[in-house]
Amino acid sequence: MKRYEQFADEIAALIREGVISPGERIPSVRQASRHHGISPSTVFQAYYLLENQGLITARARSGYFVREHAQRLRDEPRVTLQHADPAEVKVSELAFSVLDSLQDTQTVPFGSAFPSPELFPLTRLSTSMTRGLRALSPQQLVADMTAGHTDLRRQIALRYMLGGIQRPIEELVITNGAMEALNLALQCVTQPGDLVAVESPAFYATLQVLERLKLRAVEIPVHPQNGIDLEVLAERLASLPIKACWFMSHLQNPLGASLSKERKRILYQLLKQHQVPMLEDDVYAELYFGSAPPVPVKAFDDEGLVIHCSSFSKCLAPGYRVGWAAGGRYAKAISRLKLMTTISPSIPAQAALADYLQHGGFDRHLRKLRHALEAQQASMLAAANRYFPAQTRITRPAGGYFLWVEFPEHIDSLRLFTMALDHGVSIAPGPIFSATQQFRHCIRLSYGHPWTAYSEHGMETLGKLLHSQRRLE
Ligand SMILES: Cc1ncc(COP(=O)(O)O)c(C=O)c1O
Repeated sequence: MKRYEQFADEIAALIREGVISPGERIPSVRQASRHHGISPSTVFQAYYLLENQGLITARARSGYFVREHAQRLRDEPRVTLQHADPAEVKVSELAFSVLDSLQDTQTVPFGSAFPSPELFPLTRLSTSMTRGLRALSPQQLVADMTAGHTDLRRQIALRYMLGGIQRPIEELVITNGAMEALNLALQCVTQPGDLVAVESPAFYATLQVLERLKLRAVEIPVHPQNGIDLEVLAERLASLPIKACWFMSHLQNPLGASLSKERKRILYQLLKQHQVPMLEDDVYAELYFGSAPPVPVKAFDDEGLVIHCSSFSKCLAPGYRVGWAAGGRYAKAISRLKLMTTISPSIPAQAALADYLQHGGFDRHLRKLRHALEAQQASMLAAANRYFPAQTRITRPAGGYFLWVEFPEHIDSLRLFTMALDHGVSIAPGPIFSATQQFRHCIRLSYGHPWTAYSEHGMETLGKLLHSQRRLE
């Protein structure tokens, strides 16, 4: 990370924590330069960056000021999970009816699970596709099918290494997106009827996998700031025969919550104590807004209990369907199960990504993507502030592209979902994120698309519908 980015991060943190308030002037370029021992041009670069992120604004001849919406203006949602016994999961019907409706490209895509394809280097990727294919030997087209494209696995292992995690490439299984990695992993460590600890709220596809495999969910509450409730997890692991955990330790979908490094260490100790494997779904790992990449629970894994699953779907190449599992002690079983089911993801897609990772400027792209998402988050929060009822609570995650919104109890998100669709706006209603269909007054909103007048109008429409629900009571 460059010095100006570091300095911009420090100022952004002061704004987020409320040390510098909206409307307040930030130190002048000269003051900042003198005080921090950095050149005025470094300060300028940092301030331009903060401006692009929507956090500060320049006023002619007066300096730079914190923008009105830059600070958290709304309270964070509460943990509202009601105690639930291990449950059969029945969420697919509802989730499918919601997902079907998201296909319409004419709607404002606040319900979408993917960021806008416009944010990805598609032209550069197509160059890599040509180059990668040219470099493929005819033998590789067949030989790489089992384990995955060798150069791609090497590049992924290298990225783990740069993050401080040493993994032999034999442990990496290339899959059709993270979803296949997670499915295979769960099948390797469970039998129908087993109990699996999942987050609440959780990504709806997690719940659908449990439903399909006839597994029962033990819901562990997630706190918007601290992540998974480790006290509840410890109690549940001690009292129930849980066979696996499926968690996102970082930028959890839908809450955006992350466990601190220390709490990740404690989580790993719990897994070790009970010898329970964990699927670590880390598809948003690259979308952090802070200065340093997060450390996954996998970093503490000295017994091969963590199956770390990720992909390029959210950060680089949606539709290429390339992901992987760093499978720990289960790598061989996962690889065999893959052979018995889909055999291999497309080798040309893997070759394209291998070329891109080596020559395409992945880190530069990621920096741009993170800045774009951070600015889009600021715009959506500002719009929520303008249009949503005063008692609304909203997360402000340090990455990813989702906000979790908690309305007053009388708001019915399923009704809001139908009404919003009629008005051309999609949202993801709360109950699809729960095995027991809780969170009826919550929704997930995506800020994964560039902010336009169309987005602003979408938020205004939601605001009007929310106010009309109150009037209908
Ligand atoms: C939390 C989470 N895990 C996994 C996936 C699936 O990733 P992929 O598209 O790589 O299969 C998604 C995609 O929406 C996701 O949000």
